Amino acid sequence: MTLLSVRDLQAGYGKVQVLFNGHIDVEPGELVGIVGPNGAGKSTFLGTLAGSVRASSGSIEFDGASIKGRNPEDIVRLGLAMVPEGRAIFTDLTVNENLRLGLTGRREKSGAQQAVDEVMDLFPVLTTHKNHQAGLLSGGQQQQLAIARALVSEPKLLLLDEPSLGLSPTVIQDVFGVLARIQERGTAIIVVEQRAHLVMSIAVRTLVMREGHIRATLSQSDAQDEAKLAAAYFGTGEDRE
Ligand SMILES: Nc1ncnc2c1ncn2[C@@H]1O[C@H](COP(=O)(O)OP(=O)(O)OP(=O)(O)O)[C@@H](O)[C@H]1O
Ligand SMILES: [Mg+2]
Repeated sequence: MTLLSVRDLQAGYGKVQVLFNGHIDVEPGELVGIVGPNGAGKSTFLGTLAGSVRASSGSIEFDGASIKGRNPEDIVRLGLAMVPEGRAIFTDLTVNENLRLGLTGRREKSGAQQAVDEVMDLFPVLTTHKNHQAGLLSGGQQQQLAIARALVSEPKLLLLDEPSLGLSPTVIQDVFGVLARIQERGTAIIVVEQRAHLVMSIAVRTLVMREGHIRATLSQSDAQDEAKLAAAYFGTGEDRE
């Protein structure tokens, strides 16, 4: 069964429409990328899925139920967790306290400690720093904490908004390496990313957004085709959808 199926999604802020035709399908365990220039509406699209931005029309089917119009807390408990742009961790709290906040998103109240242990296993650096204030972690460690906090709710689908933002190339490799391991656990992932090559190397397919529209769908092999990539990204030449 398709895990996420989104059709004709529209959203905006006040009178300004930002998202015109959001659509995406994600199967269980798939990793799908979304790329596009600044202001294309990528974060808005993710926000509508996670319930933080209201969709004015369209449909969002997740795990067999409509989640359009549900609040973010309900959506997390249904198994859809988001790591927003800028991470939004609590810098005054310890690493461990941040992780425990993620537990409020769990469907099952049992198994919480095991979920924390598993996540610590995935990010050993968090074990090292578990009693340290989160604000003292490096940017890469904070990003790992933000992902870890989302994971303790044991989501079926994880949304990541620009996880590489502000990180050095080696740290980006670490963070993206973990995504493959999360996927191996059976969790589906949608990653929004400015760096098209980076996301295309791990995503089964990558949607290109421009001006609130999904304009093209690229496959892994398209990463080698610079002309096609540029055309999709900047809107030169023909669109592919
Ligand atoms: N809370 C908000 N209130 C009003 N307008 C907003 C709000 N958030 C985003 N916008 C506007 O919506 C449009 C799309 O923004 P969005 O953040 O979704 O784009 P994006 O593709 O994620 O961009 P970036 O790559 O810079 O993160 C922009 O024109 C932005 O100014
Ligand atoms: Mg954004």
